[in-house]
Amino acid sequence: MQSNPQNVTDYPNNNTCFLVWSFREGTATEKIKAVFRRVCALVINLNNSALDRFPDAKASCVMGIGYEAWLQLDLPRPLPKELKDFEAIKGDKHTAVATKGDLHFHIRADEKSLVYDMSAVISGFMKEIADCVVEVHGFRYWDSRSILGFVDGTENPHGTDRAHFAVIGEQDINYKGGSYLFVQKYLHNLEAWKLLSVEEQEKVIGRSKDNDIEMTDEVKPQNSHIALANIGDDFKVVRDNMPFGNVATNEMGTYFICYASTFTTVEKMLTNMFIGNPPGNYDRILDFSTAKTGTLFFVPPLDMLDDFSG
Ligand code: HEM
Repeated sequence: MQSNPQNVTDYPNNNTCFLVWSFREGTATEKIKAVFRRVCALVINLNNSALDRFPDAKASCVMGIGYEAWLQLDLPRPLPKELKDFEAIKGDKHTAVATKGDLHFHIRADEKSLVYDMSAVISGFMKEIADCVVEVHGFRYWDSRSILGFVDGTENPHGTDRAHFAVIGEQDINYKGGSYLFVQKYLHNLEAWKLLSVEEQEKVIGRSKDNDIEMTDEVKPQNSHIALANIGDDFKVVRDNMPFGNVATNEMGTYFICYASTFTTVEKMLTNMFIGNPPGNYDRILDFSTAKTGTLFFVPPLDMLDDFSG
């Protein structure tokens, strides 16, 4: 039974590289398939090698496959039940855009050097057949804060709950041990954000800034981020967001990334945020954050990744 997950339940580390690759048009499918087989083997090799050489580095590489890529690579049918092209979610004011991506790599380690080496070796193979459409180098900002200054990740599932919410179980027996991976690259308007008082910023998020305490339901605004993103204790995802920033170009952002046992949960959160609940009551964090990408991938379990490596 294929059920051992890739490292989807690992905690965010100090350094991360996110890579999205799109197969280059006109490349022969046989060549794409050959490189894909090689890269599947490489991901397994990189994880094993990092664990062996740097056991305390908490290093890992997780690979996800997009819907179009799944078809082009002739991967197993029926497909994972919820794997599809992500469709944009349009609210009156803000849109969760849908963008293309065939393979996603989520590379984590405590040391940037290890992240760099793993990214470089993967890219060495991928560039034969694909273009890198997103490359984001995320870093742990102080005590796990987003670049907006608020701690990001507090209400994530912990312990065995992580696998419960991130990994597919009996509901899709062919893909037990797999996960849905959804990513968005957000850019923040930090100038506008900094014009808000700390009290106003706290109302946008729904938590205190300094010590990360959740507001009571009586005080928490209905359009705060956590009021809309929290869709109930039975519907959670494992988030591994990382901030990134380029001070010269003023590109400051959050790479939103989550692993989920069902994509419906993510869609419900996005609908609440972008369309609003009730419709029109959208997430105020979006007035300061623009989604530039949005792509769904499927993360096959380890044994399946091994099968794909040929
Ligand atoms: C602009 C990008 C985003 C930023 C900066 C951001 C930041 C935050 C922060 C600071 C928190 C509070 C601390 C915590 O519990 O983690 C939070 C909570 C949360 N966020 Fe986000 N987030 C972003 C996008 C998203 C998206 C796109 C989703 C879902 C698709 C999402 C889902 C959640 C959930 C489920 C919670 C926990 C709510 C709770 O149960 O209290 N976030 N986020």
